[in-house]
Amino acid sequence: MAAIKEEAQQVISDIVLQLQVTNAQLLLRWVLHHNYAALVKTTKSFRMAENLKIFEFEIPTKYIAQLDRLNQDQPIAWATAGLDPMKSAPTI
Ligand SMILES: NC(=O)c1ccc[n+]([C@@H]2O[C@H](COP(=O)([O-])OP(=O)(O)OC[C@H]3O[C@@H](n4cnc5c(N)ncnc54)[C@H](OP(=O)(O)O)[C@@H]3O)[C@@H](O)[C@H]2O)c1
Repeated sequence: MAAIKEEAQQVISDIVLQLQVTNAQLLLRWVLHHNYAALVKTTKSFRMAENLKIFEFEIPTKYIAQLDRLNQDQPIAWATAGLDPMKSAPTI
């Protein structure tokens, strides 16, 4: 797992250097490229400006392919109030 994370970080670092964007911009733009929903929240105006700039560039196809290869289709869920949403369903 650590090797995968290191490989992912290396791929991301190389691409952000080429495109002159931040890690967050690259990954948010990748989300947008695939028409996935991104819920972005920040308390800092400079990050809000940074995040809005994802509409001003596109990721070239060769880099999209590199990022796609890192995707492991693992679900992501939030754990709040001590609950693990992967183990327990809320009671309605
Ligand atoms: N969590 C849930 O279960 C849930 C469910 C439904 C809807 N939502 C909505 O989804 C949105 C996000 O929720 P969340 O739980 O992901 O929020 P969060 O974890 O509380 O906040 C997002 C985090 O991303 C950071 N961030 C934003 N832009 C960044 C950037 N460019 N670089 C580095 N860090 C950056 C923010 O840091 P700074 O503030 O320091 O910039 C903050 O720590 C919210 O509008 C929330 O209402 C959440």
